[in-house]
Amino acid sequence: MITLIKVRDYDEASDKAFEVMKEYLKPGKVLGLATGSTPLGLYARMVFDHEENGTSYQEIRSFNLDEYVGLPITHPESYYAFMHRNLFDHIDIKEENAHVPSGLGEDLEGQARAYDEMIDETPVDIQLLGIGSDGHIAFNEPGTPFDSGTHVTDLAESTIKDNCRFFDNDISKVPTQAVTQGIGTIMKAKHILLIATGANKAKAVKDMLEGPVDEVCPASILQRHEDVTVIVDEAAAALLDK
Ligand code: F6R
Repeated sequence: MITLIKVRDYDEASDKAFEVMKEYLKPGKVLGLATGSTPLGLYARMVFDHEENGTSYQEIRSFNLDEYVGLPITHPESYYAFMHRNLFDHIDIKEENAHVPSGLGEDLEGQARAYDEMIDETPVDIQLLGIGSDGHIAFNEPGTPFDSGTHVTDLAESTIKDNCRFFDNDISKVPTQAVTQGIGTIMKAKHILLIATGANKAKAVKDMLEGPVDEVCPASILQRHEDVTVIVDEAAAALLDK
């Protein structure tokens, strides 16, 4: 079941997302985390809450959705670096408990399977998601099987273009592959929190919520999950029937 929450803008979306996330900032909880522009406001609120209220992450574990293939973790645009810069370095989560899939090494598929095994042993309580303008979740591009596990994937042309802004607007610098949790992996999370803001997400939001459940729109599978919260701002909600 999807609970839809409509807010005015990005700031309100981040406030609402924090309200939902706050319930999970407790010892023993397992967070599924995302990168990209969408969660930055939420992460800023988590850092503020840690600093002001002393909310502790010592007994919290996390699993990120994805990572580019071939970028060293020291590269500022690696998702490992992103997570440290925007969240992990500012809270007290233990390094060994904050998992980001590795996009480096000889046996990426083997590492991907091991990542899924870890998630199976430590099920995710709340999975945070953004959505791509093509309806992707994590790096599961249109056409990805709904039952996929963590795997290596080619990025869609539109995603490479969308992410160009992080690589000096130079398309040749954007990695073309990523390791990503599969749709099947994501669907195992007990609660899913998806945030979508901005007009470039409006079509994907409509397809996700009101379209058929079809691999053409990866996010449409969320209609089959039992506990999803979707937070949309006015621009992202613009094409919705209701
Ligand atoms: C990030 C991720 C991606 C983004 C999506 C939206 O870990 O898996 O699916 O959530 O591309 O990106 P932004 O938030 O930058 O619009």
